Amino acid sequence: MSTYSILGLCGSLRAKSLNLAALKAAAEVMPAGMTLTIATIDDLPIYNQDVQDKGWPAPAERLRAQVAAADGVIMASPEYNWSVGAPLKNVIDWLSRYKEQPFQNKPVAMVSATGGPVGGVRGQLDLRRIMAVLGGQVLVKPEVFIGSAAGKFSPDGKLTDETTRKFLTDQMLGLRDLIERTKRANG
Ligand SMILES: Cc1cc2nc3c(=O)[nH]c(=O)nc-3n(C[C@H](O)[C@H](O)[C@H](O)COP(=O)(O)O)c2cc1C
Repeated sequence: MSTYSILGLCGSLRAKSLNLAALKAAAEVMPAGMTLTIATIDDLPIYNQDVQDKGWPAPAERLRAQVAAADGVIMASPEYNWSVGAPLKNVIDWLSRYKEQPFQNKPVAMVSATGGPVGGVRGQLDLRRIMAVLGGQVLVKPEVFIGSAAGKFSPDGKLTDETTRKFLTDQMLGLRDLIERTKRANG
């Protein structure tokens, strides 16, 4: 059985983030052999080329290496003002500055959980467009939009909504297939 290491990038920094809870739920429903590590991103400074010119900050170096080493990435992010939240966009902006692009050909699945009913469709579509610029292999379907998310998790962050669990399960199978197809295509 093949084993695949998956990196989770959560676009919300708050401890009780519903997107973080969704990432943890994705880890529970992954097929055997897939494992999830959730990246720390809250120590990454806001992108500033003056800072970059003085030398890559350690968190950017760490995240670059983690993305490069992962077989696949799951991005779970809230929608902020109809687009991608700043924390995840900041990670992407930093990593996009590396000459050897860590997202190039990287299989990426996306999840968005929001307080409102729409589930972050607008933000996730922007994220798909951004990842296309960077050459990521974005999993087109199954899509996962978790609207009215507060009602779908218990107060301690466990996914309680069975329909959402089924979507996530199917998406993780899709991510595994995409990883295998990408590996075959790139030798
Ligand atoms: C700055 C800000 C902007 C937001 N904009 C949107 C939005 O455009 N669409 C939406 O559905 N929810 C929006 N929300 C509500 C978030 O969906 C909600 O707070 C969600 O729980 C955040 O994700 P988290 O639980 O992972 O932190 C916004 C929240 C914040 C803090």
